Amino acid sequence: MESNNLFRTRRHFLSGLAIGSAALFTPGVFAQKLIQTPRQTEGPFYPDKMPLDTDNDLLIINDSITPAVGAVTYLSGRILNSRGEPIRGALVEIWQCDNNGAYLHTGTVNKDKRDVNFQGFGRFMTGSTGDYMFRTIKPVPYPGRTPHIHFAVKVKGQEKFTTQCYVKGDPGNEKDSILKNIRDPKLRESILVDFAPLKQSRIGELSARFDIVLGFTPES
Ligand SMILES: [Fe+2]
Repeated sequence: MESNNLFRTRRHFLSGLAIGSAALFTPGVFAQKLIQTPRQTEGPFYPDKMPLDTDNDLLIINDSITPAVGAVTYLSGRILNSRGEPIRGALVEIWQCDNNGAYLHTGTVNKDKRDVNFQGFGRFMTGSTGDYMFRTIKPVPYPGRTPHIHFAVKVKGQEKFTTQCYVKGDPGNEKDSILKNIRDPKLRESILVDFAPLKQSRIGELSARFDIVLGFTPES
């Protein structure tokens, strides 16, 4: 019951995505090319007080009728082990600033402009396909950082994994010190994500895919 609560409210749109992405993937085929996702700092803005709603739809808090402001994005991907196999039961958490650059954190910049309708944080527990899905906004810059979304992946018995993904082609990427710290171009490329128009969408929604490859193989 507990875990069902994580995605109860938007089950209809999520189930459609799950079928699509599972059908496109053949487990193991790309295992040799897999690049382990680089760890990056958790940063200072993991929520210091959780939102009232922590589901995987960051645009709507509980049953509010007013959605968050921003470029609507369906963010999905898979949590894989070092052999390219899906990890079931991984708790995926994301957090990011709202469209005005404010985090759900008491120490955020732009606090007075915070979008109270943006959830700012969400969780999703993977099933047997390793897929996760969120509905959120395309990230925007805030002072000192290029647009990014923070991730934490929690797998039983393993140290918490934190990283960040970025908008491929954003001009701010060249100047971002956290991104530039990843010196290997292949590793850097692995965390740049295409925010592409969703073909079926008539209202300009975006789709983004970010697979996370962890450097271990959990005991099953
Ligand atoms: Fe950040």
